[in-house]
Amino acid sequence: MRPDMNAAKLRRLYLDFFKKHGHAEIKSAPLVPENDPTCLFTTAGMHPLVPYLLGQKHPMGTRLTDVQKCLRTNDIDEVGDPFHMTFFEMLGNWSLGDYFKQEAISMSFEFLTKELGFKPEEIKVTCFAGDENAPRDNEAAGIWKSLGIPEKNIYFLGKEDNWWGPAGQTGPCGPDTEIFVPVDRPDCGPDCSPKCGCGKWVEIWNNVFMQYNKTAEGKFEPLAHPNVDTGMGVERVTAFLEGVPSAYQTELFQPIFAKLQELSGNAQADHINRSARIVAEHLRAATFLLADGVKPGNVDQGYVLRRLIRRAIREARQLGRTEPFTSQIAAVIIANYCEYYPELKEHEAVIAEELDREEKQFAAALEKGTREFNKMIERVPDFVVNKQISGKNAFNLYETYGFPIELTVEMAKEKGFKVDLEGFKKAAEDHQKLSQAGAEQKFAGGLADHSEATAHLHTATHLLNQALRNLIAADIHQCGSNITAERLRFDFNYPDKLTPEQLKAVEDQVNEQIQKDLPVVCEEMSLEDARKTNAQGLFGNKYGERVKVYSIGDFSKEICGGPHATHTAELGHFKIVKEESSSRGVRRIKAILEK
Ligand code: ALA
Repeated sequence: MRPDMNAAKLRRLYLDFFKKHGHAEIKSAPLVPENDPTCLFTTAGMHPLVPYLLGQKHPMGTRLTDVQKCLRTNDIDEVGDPFHMTFFEMLGNWSLGDYFKQEAISMSFEFLTKELGFKPEEIKVTCFAGDENAPRDNEAAGIWKSLGIPEKNIYFLGKEDNWWGPAGQTGPCGPDTEIFVPVDRPDCGPDCSPKCGCGKWVEIWNNVFMQYNKTAEGKFEPLAHPNVDTGMGVERVTAFLEGVPSAYQTELFQPIFAKLQELSGNAQADHINRSARIVAEHLRAATFLLADGVKPGNVDQGYVLRRLIRRAIREARQLGRTEPFTSQIAAVIIANYCEYYPELKEHEAVIAEELDREEKQFAAALEKGTREFNKMIERVPDFVVNKQISGKNAFNLYETYGFPIELTVEMAKEKGFKVDLEGFKKAAEDHQKLSQAGAEQKFAGGLADHSEATAHLHTATHLLNQALRNLIAADIHQCGSNITAERLRFDFNYPDKLTPEQLKAVEDQVNEQIQKDLPVVCEEMSLEDARKTNAQGLFGNKYGERVKVYSIGDFSKEICGGPHATHTAELGHFKIVKEESSSRGVRRIKAILEK
């Protein structure tokens, strides 16, 4: 326990430690991955670094460190347990073909024992046991032993436990070694270890040795340069440092609970209360998503955001808060986090506005749902003895109107009805299977590929962006981009639908540039110099100090990670296939390249 520590100090300590060891500090990328159609959210620190893990040169060098905002929705139903969260921060250090196991493990050990004060005897580690794709990682185990971790505290596990990645279906991956520390509770038995899963041993850090690229055919090809990718959870480690048994008891969450207690007038709305945990956790995630430009909606990221906000509102109702409150909680979150994440402060007004709007819409949906509920009740004649709302109807209220099942049960009781909870559960499960199938499809296909086709579409996106600025409005900028091998999708700020004439003019201007066969040139420079050259910079907070600037002749200049075509004639014929609204004030263009 380190009473002098908190999350802000942990972030600084970590980054400074790795800077001392030659790493360049880079900024967190946004929560919505750029140019990766297969993942809705950034799920790990390595995610924005995939092109560099696959061999592209990073402008900041071969040793990097950062704190990355991450969001994982697979554990959403577990939120409320001591350590489960959708949004979390991941500390990471990377070697891009630079150091490997010896140095990575030694630095992890030094940081844990010297900087954070963990004792070597309270650390247990796991290493990869080996299989047909890669050998048993005796090397990693040997390094741990040489540093003073006794052999009995080193465990070997299979691929399910000690292999990380790829983040999608293809991409960099490899064996890992995971580091565990004990929470303050008794062992579950003599064999209690990271293997037993009883909760005593909590994984706080993962060192992945990314030696392989998993191909679409399922092959593990050795990478030309093996990399190191590590991830340490800020919330978890902060809990250990503060000596508290859950992430919700750390100072990252305490101010949120204090505000919630004040707003709900409920002293029980604290770190132990499951509803309060969900409110705090979901609104924290929602606040960060809104700051990164996501708007509540019915598809993709917007749908997840909507679900998070509505679930938070429902749980707050359980605590007694029925009046609008979410933007007041967001204000506390912004104050607590804005020093490290200035984008929160920058988008403070939008965050509050969107939360207020969503809260109003949800209240209206609840009202409509109540009317529907009453109709349902009226349809049942008085003489029926065991009056019951079917599982299907209860689920419909939940799904269509966002009606919490607890609310349906409560209102039903007032009218002398029961609710078929088993049937509700079954309907929910059936639905989940359906939506999971959809979600799996979304995550299938691996991370964005870096093929020639996507490189060409990437270049076409820059041309499109500039043509829109030239012909439609000078202040247009990218609000989102998503490229598959087949098409580009470009979101930009503009209030009105574009006319067919406007679209034609944009298309023509892009094709003119393609026909001129302009060279695509990449230069590395400092962010400051890039700004001076008037390069368009997207996602302001994402870049490190050195950036790549891609120029397409004199037509376009943008800060971008690439990859790109070398000359525009490679692109073929540019064609806009769709123009539609993406969210309020944001238009979306889908376009293809015909060869
Ligand atoms: N990418 C690794 C993880 O997320 C470090 O655990």
